[in-house]
Amino acid sequence: MGKALDGVRILDFTHVQSGPTCTQLLAWLGADVIKVERPGEGDATRKQLRDIPGADSLYFTMLNHNKRSVTINTKTPGGLAVLDRLIKTCDVMVENFAPGALERMGITWQHIQALNPRMVVASVKGFGPGPYQDCKVYENVAQCAGGAASTTGEVDGMPLISGAQIGDSGTGLHLALGIVAALYQRNTTGRGQQVLAPMQDAVLNLCRVKLRDQQRLERTHTMHEYPQYPDGKFGDAVPRAGNASGGGQPGAILKCKGWETDPNAYIYFITQAAVWPAICRVIGEPGWIDDEAYATPQARLLHLKPIFRRIEQWTMGKDKFEAMDILNQLDIPCGPILSMKEIAHEPSLRASGTVVEVDHPERGKYLTVGNPIKLSDSPTEVTRSPLLGEHTDEVLAQLGFAASEIQALRAEGAI
Ligand code: COA
Repeated sequence: MGKALDGVRILDFTHVQSGPTCTQLLAWLGADVIKVERPGEGDATRKQLRDIPGADSLYFTMLNHNKRSVTINTKTPGGLAVLDRLIKTCDVMVENFAPGALERMGITWQHIQALNPRMVVASVKGFGPGPYQDCKVYENVAQCAGGAASTTGEVDGMPLISGAQIGDSGTGLHLALGIVAALYQRNTTGRGQQVLAPMQDAVLNLCRVKLRDQQRLERTHTMHEYPQYPDGKFGDAVPRAGNASGGGQPGAILKCKGWETDPNAYIYFITQAAVWPAICRVIGEPGWIDDEAYATPQARLLHLKPIFRRIEQWTMGKDKFEAMDILNQLDIPCGPILSMKEIAHEPSLRASGTVVEVDHPERGKYLTVGNPIKLSDSPTEVTRSPLLGEHTDEVLAQLGFAASEIQALRAEGAI
């Protein structure tokens, strides 16, 4: 079966996480992704957080599936000549170098336009135009500068970084969408364009509900679904809200049977208004259905802490999966706190191709996250990440370099 992005060729000049997540997605959608790396070194993540001496790390392999690897030293004339040939024949260049690094190589927008006016040039940078535009940025900086950290954490605790890589992988996702849109527009204009996804902006986009809350707070000086209500204090900026639900439906993480020894024996429980009678009945408080203090969502907001304490007495008598089974039958929205260990063995995620086992010549078998986006006519087959420079000769031959020229480039240290 064909793939959605069959025929699209990507010059993948990305490294670390944000850019590679973007190009990996495009590869899964069918693009031919040619990853350019520095000879002898490659993407720094190949050697970071290694668990097997000498083998590409999981950090690298899990971000670079379905790609080809070509080594090019862009600080040599021969290397730049190969790069120019790639620019002429690719549809998209994706890069996430520090600001200015690409231009220092001589690869300016004007240079690219002169070689290939149809090329889409897509970049991740830490910040967009403004005071921080020249800064290098990693994941946690983006989470802080994009508003996520100030709004994450316990009510009285310090700002917190999320385990979800919203700065890197979140920005990579945004960039991938920008690239596909630019390719679509090229169908009518015939021209490429520049696509920029700053990490701060992408994180803020994912935190837009918190900017919503900032404006609500400024207007009303309170927010009834936050744990600071009714007896705590609000300041002038959106506070941290612990595990309170972000929407109009109050929710909390509650202990389940075994919580004393299992750090993940918890369930997320949402007191959705539509199923309040069912909640009251299942926890053994049928009197709450008509009790004035609990009968309406508005009234309940004044008593959320005792309500969740009472529900927790019930959840503590069940393990999280048992509680899920009972609550799901009653249409009560809830979710178990799953550990990575549990996720790794979850049969439905294996069956859907979201958790995949891949074989690698250096590492043997390992688990990875496959494509979470499922296209019915463009199924994803996850193939292993390339070894450093594994496809250099193959790609150069496709670009029209003769074997003797490839040999000369290698002797020059250009590839
Ligand atoms: N051949 C020769 N040189 C190469 C090369 C190649 N194939 N590929 C990269 N280089 C060089 C660059 O030209 C640059 O050299 P210069 O500084 O002399 O101009 C150098 O490698 C380093 O590139 P840089 O991007 O600055 O890497 P870094 O390791 O210092 O910084 C980041 C890493 C991630 C902080 C930085 O790239 C960045 O801020 N990127 C944008 C934001 C981002 O994506 N962050 C998230 C990463 S997950």
